[in-house]
Amino acid sequence: MIKINEHYLKLQSSYLFSEIAKRVSAFQAAHPGRKIIKLGIGDVTRPLPEACIEAFHKAVDEMASIRTFRGYGPEQGYDFLREKIAEEDFRARGATIAADEIFISDGAKCDTGNIQEIFAVDSRIAIPDPVYPVYLDTNVMAGRTGAFADGRYDGIVYLESTRANAFVPEPPEVPVDLIYLCFPNNPTGATITKPQLRAWVDYARENQALILFDAAYEAFLRDDSLPRSIYEIEGAEEVALEFRSYSKTAGFTGTRCAYTVVPKSCMAYTANGEKRSLHALWNRRHTTKFNGVSYPVQRAAEAVYSKEGKAQVRASIDYYLVNAALIRKEMTALGYECIGGDNSPYIWVDGRTDSWAFFDMLLEKAGVVCTPGAGFGRCGKGYIRISAFNNHENVEEAIERIKQALS
Ligand code: MLT
Repeated sequence: MIKINEHYLKLQSSYLFSEIAKRVSAFQAAHPGRKIIKLGIGDVTRPLPEACIEAFHKAVDEMASIRTFRGYGPEQGYDFLREKIAEEDFRARGATIAADEIFISDGAKCDTGNIQEIFAVDSRIAIPDPVYPVYLDTNVMAGRTGAFADGRYDGIVYLESTRANAFVPEPPEVPVDLIYLCFPNNPTGATITKPQLRAWVDYARENQALILFDAAYEAFLRDDSLPRSIYEIEGAEEVALEFRSYSKTAGFTGTRCAYTVVPKSCMAYTANGEKRSLHALWNRRHTTKFNGVSYPVQRAAEAVYSKEGKAQVRASIDYYLVNAALIRKEMTALGYECIGGDNSPYIWVDGRTDSWAFFDMLLEKAGVVCTPGAGFGRCGKGYIRISAFNNHENVEEAIERIKQALS
């Protein structure tokens, strides 16, 4: 008899963004003529930067010629891209990351979801609340939690991010082994300072713990005093892995390219307390289960680092940040307390009511899709997340409609 992995039965009915898509489709079917403005899932609307498109086309042409065609590439990614990343994203900011410590992949969602399988099932996990659901759900699937009750899984140490701590949790009192952090944060849009991040690195060093640092929204940072990488903090390369993505940075949500940094000095332990290199483990996992990102996509990602690419990426992010500033200003003017939206594409709005009810009301009365905060965890109850990923005209129209709906 084939048996299922019963840990899946502990999961909540559906993945947050699938549930939202279902409700939006039902609403659209019931109101076929109604224009819906989506400020829910963080999906980009601007096209790929011109520099990326040019590199992409050129690489596709190379695939059309017998002289330049390429089959399987290195699972870890082509050197041309890994070298660029190490230089531009890390060494240029004083972080000593080498090209062979970078693993190119098809998404930070996949990497943050897959990484947990190289750690022991009985690892004590610390997860922020609210949180990007992937970190939590993948640990539930792996059997690291008990049952779900009252908005929480048994066995998880929740790091509450609330108004009281300005949405930046401090290291817990209890010892934990694996810590998920995401800054600029999804969903709250909060950012972390270097001293705050240093406290986490110190905690991890003292407790032989590991930090999984998701920096997928790093390109939205405009405050230069804020860390773009955890490796800007001394000693972090021994206790942290970092996840980056071209999805939000350069519009690759449909094109798929990301990377994970696994420094060679980063260790974890066997049951007997012997040190083992995480780099070797992740390399083993990656080469066994993944066959690399396509060559044209990696060439397109490489172009992000060209002079033109950098300027185009910056202009695109600035475009979304204009939307973010408008959303935050107008929601604040309507009397809602907001955070995020300055160094982040997300605005976290205290709706002061049930967040699914707020979501349904905005959909029905304004035809605007947001994301209910409760879907990100118990501390998200009462909040909604509004995304700045859309064009200016749609965001302006959405704001006008929201104003009318709330008046
Ligand atoms: C979000 O809206 O939180 C993100 O788009 C989801 C993702 O990147 O997978």
